Amino acid sequence: IMSPLVWDLGHIAAYEDLWLAHRHAGLELLRRDLAECYDAFETPRAVRGEIEALGPIEARDYLAAVRARTIAALAEGVIGDGDVYEMVLRHELQHSETMRQTMAIAGLLPVGDRSKLDQPLRPLAAGERWLAIPAGPFAIGAEPKGFAYDNERPRHTVDVAAFQIARHPVSNGSWMHFSEGGGYERREWWSAEGWAWKEEYDITHHDAVAAGHADAPVCHVSWFEADAFARAHGARLPTEAEWEKAATWEHETPEAIGSVWEWTGSSFHGYPGFSAYPYREYSEVFFGEDYRVLRGGSWATHPRVATLTFRNWDLPLRRQIFAGVRLARDNAET
Ligand code: AVJ
Ligand code: FE
Repeated sequence: IMSPLVWDLGHIAAYEDLWLAHRHAGLELLRRDLAECYDAFETPRAVRGEIEALGPIEARDYLAAVRARTIAALAEGVIGDGDVYEMVLRHELQHSETMRQTMAIAGLLPVGDRSKLDQPLRPLAAGERWLAIPAGPFAIGAEPKGFAYDNERPRHTVDVAAFQIARHPVSNGSWMHFSEGGGYERREWWSAEGWAWKEEYDITHHDAVAAGHADAPVCHVSWFEADAFARAHGARLPTEAEWEKAATWEHETPEAIGSVWEWTGSSFHGYPGFSAYPYREYSEVFFGEDYRVLRGGSWATHPRVATLTFRNWDLPLRRQIFAGVRLARDNAET
């Protein structure tokens, strides 16, 4: 399910060349012969290990040559409103996180990265674990001005009932407690799909959970596991609207956003009035019930990507993302 690291490098270069030099500045593609193998749809992840593509030195040379043309185009002032530039920049930043996921699977993360991912959360007193957010309308999504991905627009008002959200994401220690307390054996805590997945692949807690600091946020959990964990605790996953309302709550925001991605209970759909920009394959082709939305960002997400309106998504069985879980629960107003 991951690409060879060197494919990501070539893809970053090809994407920059396509969007900036070719489509924006009107130049021919630097390497027309590479367009197909570095197109994410023409060459899906499953076949990227088998194709004849650039090796590590050639890929770096290609990237450097593309970058030189980009800089020349920028110097000539053909950057327009900056949206294409920003998209290309964030594309590379997103792939640098994807590459770190690959490196984590291969046990290749550098020491500096490994220390970032195992930071303990500050202890909370029993009474401060939950943040109560009152009922009321909330404007979800990115403002009309400035760069945002198409799936963050249009900004629109949603009614959100009163709810509570955990100040911290769930820790490794809590997860081990769940696992050792039969979390992976209690049918009643799992969805039908989640249970079937768990049985088929003989799933128990990810190795990283047992190896991590007990007070650091749990990471490498799938949506199915996050959902089961929440039910085992009389809670649920926050909806996207709840998450964004809490994250932008003016009085007080939940703590520790940005250590791990947070699964939400929402599947990935376009907001009402969505229109694809600048290409359907960024988001629209993934809309539907299959994908779940993640919010926030991880230690490996560049701050330029991890805005409070940014929507990430993946399939509910995936564990390669640096993803954990923050619990929510209903708050019947009295
Ligand atoms: C937003 C992280 C789901 O990796 O598939 C990269 C970002 N889009 N290249 C992905 C993306 C095109 C995307 N995610
Ligand atoms: Fe990409």
